[in-house]
Amino acid sequence: MTENHPTETLGALEAEALAAIRDAADEAALERVRVAFLGRSDGRISAILRGLGGLSPEERPAVGQEANRVKGVVSAALEERSAALSRPGASHAEDLTLPSLGPWRGGLHPVTQAIDEIWEIFRGLGFTRARGPEADTEWYNFVALNTPLDHPAADEQDTLYLADSVLLRSHTSPVQVRTMEAYEPPIRVLAPGWVYRRDAYDATHTPAFLQIEGLVVDEGVTFVDLKATLAEFARRYWGPDTQVRFRPSFFPFTEPSAEVDVKRVITLPDGSRQETDWLEIMGAGMVDPAVLENVGYDPERYTGWAFGMGPARIAMLKHGVDDLRAFFENDMRFLAQFAS
Ligand code: PHE
Repeated sequence: MTENHPTETLGALEAEALAAIRDAADEAALERVRVAFLGRSDGRISAILRGLGGLSPEERPAVGQEANRVKGVVSAALEERSAALSRPGASHAEDLTLPSLGPWRGGLHPVTQAIDEIWEIFRGLGFTRARGPEADTEWYNFVALNTPLDHPAADEQDTLYLADSVLLRSHTSPVQVRTMEAYEPPIRVLAPGWVYRRDAYDATHTPAFLQIEGLVVDEGVTFVDLKATLAEFARRYWGPDTQVRFRPSFFPFTEPSAEVDVKRVITLPDGSRQETDWLEIMGAGMVDPAVLENVGYDPERYTGWAFGMGPARIAMLKHGVDDLRAFFENDMRFLAQFAS
């Protein structure tokens, strides 16, 4: 047998026709394909249909049916391609010179990166990680922290209540209480997490923000440990020339209390070095004996210190970002700068 069986030929013709239709870049090319396969006089599929009469009566029905099916499929594909080519802008072949979009490069959020960097430093200083719930009770958020509910800090205006005495925590300090309730000293923990306040949404405030709490409790812990540890942190984070300043302050749960400021040395684009202004980075202090008593520790035996800092503020300092909202608005042009 030298000639292909007509039904096998039809299968090959169908595939060839469909490929040619797909490749037709414009209406003229498509018309040439139509003529080559379905043209009245010498279309290749038409020729098979015309030759049906010469087949044996056994072969004729099957070949005829298959030829008509292929003709239908090819006609439909021609129409579809013709419609696609007539849509605006579709009459040209793909522009192969157009650069591709390229893959998205993911990365950690800049504030998450700051938390990770801060965590690495404290981990090196012997801290472990602690966490607590974002919805907490007045006891943990205020009362156990030596903050009576009629104290201005506990004012309902500053706080988002969910139910009678359950609220969105306004700081990470409740994790101090939960950690001390769950463990005996020595304690050395870092507790990052979201906190919530009834604050405006502006360049320096957001109603939800991240804090990092630190807590150390042991026998013989003094303010010297607090100062030395936080100064060491600042030098490791911003460089060995960083200066640290402790200003007297007040928190109900620490006594004495301090605001901690840093003065950094930055390198300008021309290579010269310059001192920055003092910038506040955290609140800190010695754990108030009343708090130790509230968790059942003996304040005669144990002392401790704690701090709370805002990693978003630290990330702003680090990257020269002047509006806190940039961290929340998910503008890819902003965020992509921090993907590495
Ligand atoms: N919880 C305090 C705040 O949110 C910060 C702080 C934590 C101060 C621990 C002292 C000790 O402002």
